[in-house]
Amino acid sequence: MQRPFVIILLGAPGAGKGTQAVRLAAARGLPHVSTGDLFRENLKLETPLGKQAKGYMESGWLVPDELVLDMLFARVARPDCVRGYVLDGFPRTLPQAQAFGERLGRIEPIVIDFVVRDATIVERAAGRLTCKACGNIQHARFAPPRVAGKCDRCSAELVQRPDDAPAVVTERLRVYHEQTQPLVGYYQTAGVLRELDGEQSPEAVFRSLMGLLPPQEAA
Ligand code: AP5
Repeated sequence: MQRPFVIILLGAPGAGKGTQAVRLAAARGLPHVSTGDLFRENLKLETPLGKQAKGYMESGWLVPDELVLDMLFARVARPDCVRGYVLDGFPRTLPQAQAFGERLGRIEPIVIDFVVRDATIVERAAGRLTCKACGNIQHARFAPPRVAGKCDRCSAELVQRPDDAPAVVTERLRVYHEQTQPLVGYYQTAGVLRELDGEQSPEAVFRSLMGLLPPQEAA
């Protein structure tokens, strides 16, 4: 059996990880595992985990590692992840990366670092629109809805994420530089990091991303 194909999308909040993860997962037939989406699902369902994560997310802070790791490990243990998966928003701290590395053992992940300037991040967060029903990501300027306020994919309502408020975005960026950016050096040292220019159009980013990945092996 082939080794699982584990792709980690690293980058600042709003760098375009979610947008590209959906496309990449579809292109490679792999599940898209987003810790942010998993937490938002838990928030919506008002689970104990969602209640614990709520305050951290609303403030732009990271949820404590132990909560993230339990949730993530349970998700990637599901049968749909056996051939691999696309990780979006995980790992985000050195302890998360180390714990995940131990779990992967001899499997080497491919880590893609989305390089995007802070000014671009602020602009993208300010205009982001997310579908309440299917989670599709659009943007008021860069991916405008065909019908105002409605999702292009399923026509449900598009909303702004509460953590895209300007003050929270500033805090998320600060937290990113302090706690997540050190992972770039960590994975560089491990020899598994590939840099991606995330300032290009979504289509050009996708082409560059596919160019950084090895060709898909036959099943
Ligand atoms: P999470 O949901 O992971 O948020 P994030 O990493 O902050 O990333 P975003 O979803 O904001 O951005 P993205 O890079 O996916 O960009 P997108 O494609 O949407 O996490 C939320 C919270 O959960 C965290 O703050 C934390 O509290 C908690 N959490 C999650 N994981 C955790 C972990 N591992 N540890 C601890 N806590 C955790 O794009 C943004 C916008 O730009 C969109 O509108 C899009 O249309 C547009 N856009 C995208 N690409 C382009 C482009 N190339 N050109 C123009 N516009 C573009």
